[in-house]
Amino acid sequence: MNYKNDFPLLNNHDIAYLDSASTTQKPQVVIDSVKQYYENDNANVHRGAYTLSVETSEKYEGVRAQVAKFINAKHPEEIIFSKNATESLNLIANSWGLENVKQEDSIVLSIMEHHSNLVPWQRVSKVTGAKLEYMYLNDDFQITEEEIKNKITEHTKVVGITHVSNVLGTINDIETIIKYAHKKGAIVVVDASQSIPHMQLDVQKLDADFVVFSGHKMLAPLGIGVLYGKKELLSKMSPFLMGGDMIEYVYEQDTTFASLPNKFEAGTQNVEGVIGLGEAIQYIQKTGYENMQKVEKELLMYAREQLEKLDYVETYYPKEIEKHSSVISFNIKGVHPHDVASILDSVHVCVRSGNHCAQPLMRYLGMDSTCRASLYFYNNKEDIDRLVDGIQKAYNMFERYLKK
Ligand code: ALA
Repeated sequence: MNYKNDFPLLNNHDIAYLDSASTTQKPQVVIDSVKQYYENDNANVHRGAYTLSVETSEKYEGVRAQVAKFINAKHPEEIIFSKNATESLNLIANSWGLENVKQEDSIVLSIMEHHSNLVPWQRVSKVTGAKLEYMYLNDDFQITEEEIKNKITEHTKVVGITHVSNVLGTINDIETIIKYAHKKGAIVVVDASQSIPHMQLDVQKLDADFVVFSGHKMLAPLGIGVLYGKKELLSKMSPFLMGGDMIEYVYEQDTTFASLPNKFEAGTQNVEGVIGLGEAIQYIQKTGYENMQKVEKELLMYAREQLEKLDYVETYYPKEIEKHSSVISFNIKGVHPHDVASILDSVHVCVRSGNHCAQPLMRYLGMDSTCRASLYFYNNKEDIDRLVDGIQKAYNMFERYLKK
């Protein structure tokens, strides 16, 4: 099956696109759905008594129900549309964190969190005086059960954990973390940005309290994100952004707020993003996670094999393939990753280089930055071969300057 054919950009450019952890390419059906929205359905939602607005509002709410079903949420109103995972996380930290975390509490994060699940909690810690603690990694880039039990205690109020690391590709054992945190009375915020593009999530089975993700990393347009929260938590939280459509009554000096989910959706929403997200979910379901995983696993194994043959390359991912999702961080020893990425660009291979919005992780690992190739089911072996040839080219250019 050549999935590339579904993605116009991958046919319009002769590139090996290996930066899907940053943002994925969009299938034709998603692009068409946005065009169709503007050509036939465009009207503001929840604001018009006229048919066009009513029908578009129904489509918008239809996607909410679709997302709820996709991640097995109990109620559609547990799904809040946001701009992206970052906004969802800021909402949780502000509306839940600042109102619930107290000075005597601890906030526990993993050291592999993206800045978006770290900086908002730093602020909560600074404002409330709560202690901010980190779960560190073993030599195989994983959080051990022992570390989970050492850090999550009866003082812990909230645990922030990424399901899959955007730097290491580590698949964290969120089931164990959630179970243990609940036992200690803490709630858990799961950043699923890097997992939901690749694997099924069942929020009820996981018993996660909050789950966030971005649409653009799972084939949908940019600017649309999701916050899932348990109804009993969301109902008690104050709104994050104030404005139109999130209110019930507004008086000169006071306001009462709308019920869920509107309470958290202030202002005109990204309707085309929501429509595109619905289409992306449909595309994923039609393709099937199992089929996507089959391609990705084969490619991941192939890429690991090829990179491990290069003794001048250092890689950073769990040895155990079952614990590794489709992200491969690497360096050519002694060569700056930005140089490697530029040379890869010269042979039309797209990778990300830098600290990947995870500076505390980099510091913990004793590095500044890495190159990162991230795979998706639309990649193929030729993309990996182009990556490996590009790395060889970069090494050849630098070899004479490197210390032996
Ligand atoms: N969070 C995205 C990444 O890891 C942008 O590349």
